[in-house]
Amino acid sequence: MRVLITGAKGQLGTQLARILQNKESEIGHIPACYNNAEVVLCDVQELDITNKDEVLAFGEFDIIFNCAAYTNVNKCETEEDFAYKINAVGAENLALLAKKTGAKLVHISTDYVFDGEKTDIYSEDDECCPVSAYGRTKRAGEEKIISACDKYFIVRTAWLYGYYGNNFVKTIRKIATENDSIKVVADQFGNPTNVCDLAHHMLLLGVSDKYGIYHCTGKGVCSWHDFATEIVKVFEIDCDVKKCTTEEYPTPAKRPKNSALSHKNLESAVGDYMRDWKEALLCFAKNVDKES
Ligand SMILES: NC(=O)c1ccc[n+]([C@@H]2O[C@H](COP(=O)([O-])OP(=O)(O)OC[C@H]3O[C@@H](n4cnc5c(N)ncnc54)[C@H](OP(=O)(O)O)[C@@H]3O)[C@@H](O)[C@H]2O)c1
Repeated sequence: MRVLITGAKGQLGTQLARILQNKESEIGHIPACYNNAEVVLCDVQELDITNKDEVLAFGEFDIIFNCAAYTNVNKCETEEDFAYKINAVGAENLALLAKKTGAKLVHISTDYVFDGEKTDIYSEDDECCPVSAYGRTKRAGEEKIISACDKYFIVRTAWLYGYYGNNFVKTIRKIATENDSIKVVADQFGNPTNVCDLAHHMLLLGVSDKYGIYHCTGKGVCSWHDFATEIVKVFEIDCDVKKCTTEEYPTPAKRPKNSALSHKNLESAVGDYMRDWKEALLCFAKNVDKES
């Protein structure tokens, strides 16, 4: 089996490659058919996914895991065209490669495709209505993939953190260590997701033939303030985490108020082994200093 990982130097791509190398993740063994897989790792230096000709000539694969993206949500507001090239056109190029070579495409999308006005959790069938440039470019990527190929898994995730690269958990750990108190937004709700759990399920989906749209996030819903409070707790930091509102902490990009996702499709296709967000965070805290 030949496997391609794009964006292989990013937070998710690095973890996915590590799991393939170890043949297991923190939540268990991965399917045995990956044992002898030839895994091709590339980031923008080796394969710029926005270059259609290069992508279409890149070779034959059985599964393409697209971990490449433009992920700076605030910067997308002023660089939407550039973000669109990566998040929409780049995704389409990989879908065209998948179509041309018969490969499956496992593509990562986001909870930010939703507007956040729903009071309940979002299902895979709910209408998309992004409220940020990042969300618009990611939704455009989903639409382009759906039009360009059949063997796709669009996997929406949220509030990602992992051992490699920067993320909210590492940032809160740092600023909480340096300050007696911090303020964190308490009126936006979602699902913190450990990148190991997401990568594990991407590998399960990759060997199935149940194509479609999936939600894959940590189990349980919380606010950014709840998330930060738990981070301070698991790292045993003496810092007062105070609540603030979105209005008190304005950012260039608008975020959905509620972007918690339900996992109906994941559960019925390959099983839902995502950990509870607090359990996965505790495991991260125990291992982060030896893994990263
Ligand atoms: N992080 C989150 O909280 C979050 C939440 C929901 C969904 N997601 C989605 O999850 C996926 C993985 O996110 P992540 O946190 O792992 O992102 P990341 O750490 O920013 O990794 C993305 C990787 O893609 C590379 N890349 C950028 N442009 C490229 C191009 N034209 N061709 C090839 N590679 C390119 C980046 O390289 P450079 O660093 O050199 O640009 C980087 O190595 C993305 O699809 C993202 O939209 C993330």
